[in-house]
Amino acid sequence: MVCIRRATINDLLAMQACNLFCLPENYQLQIYLYHIISWPQLLYVAEDYNGKIVGYVLAKMEEEATPECHGHITSLAVLRSHRKLGLATKLMMAAHSAMEHSNRAAFNLYTETLGYKVHDLEGKYYADGEDAYVMRKIFKG
Ligand SMILES: CC(C)(COP(=O)(O)OP(=O)(O)OC[C@H]1O[C@@H](n2cnc3c(N)ncnc32)[C@H](O)[C@@H]1OP(=O)(O)O)[C@@H](O)C(=O)NCCC(=O)NCCS
Repeated sequence: MVCIRRATINDLLAMQACNLFCLPENYQLQIYLYHIISWPQLLYVAEDYNGKIVGYVLAKMEEEATPECHGHITSLAVLRSHRKLGLATKLMMAAHSAMEHSNRAAFNLYTETLGYKVHDLEGKYYADGEDAYVMRKIFKG
């Protein structure tokens, strides 16, 4: 039995070890730390019934101020002993869902917290052909 859960700071060494086993692209611990400090909701691990980390996904959101909000998968790996069980799919789906939520967080920030209203839709605004909301806030007086 393997569970997919959000990674904590205590998982970083095990994630790094899993990466070293699986991939030629390796990262210093600072990179894992940077990811978990900046995007704690985007790191997931697959943990077996013994508490061993057998897979992980290390993801982040785009840092540049681009109009479109998009994420990156920095690294994904599953130990050879646990492959073809659907774990990478589950890890990726968890990261996708968290990224989508990050997107929704920005939408809620404008509409619910700051009181912006959707004024219009700009068709195919983003490079990937997606539409963009034009939002406005009316100030009294
Ligand atoms: C790529 C990797 C993460 C897949 O992990 P996994 O848990 O075995 O993947 P899943 O079981 O979720 O498989 C998902 C799909 O990947 C593909 N896939 C996985 N292993 C495969 C293999 N040996 N041959 C061909 N396709 C394969 C299939 O399309 C599979 O879908 P299916 O089961 O419906 O056929 C794993 O093989 C791995 O860690 N590889 C080394 C590191 C790496 O390449 N990371 C990705 C680059 S960042």
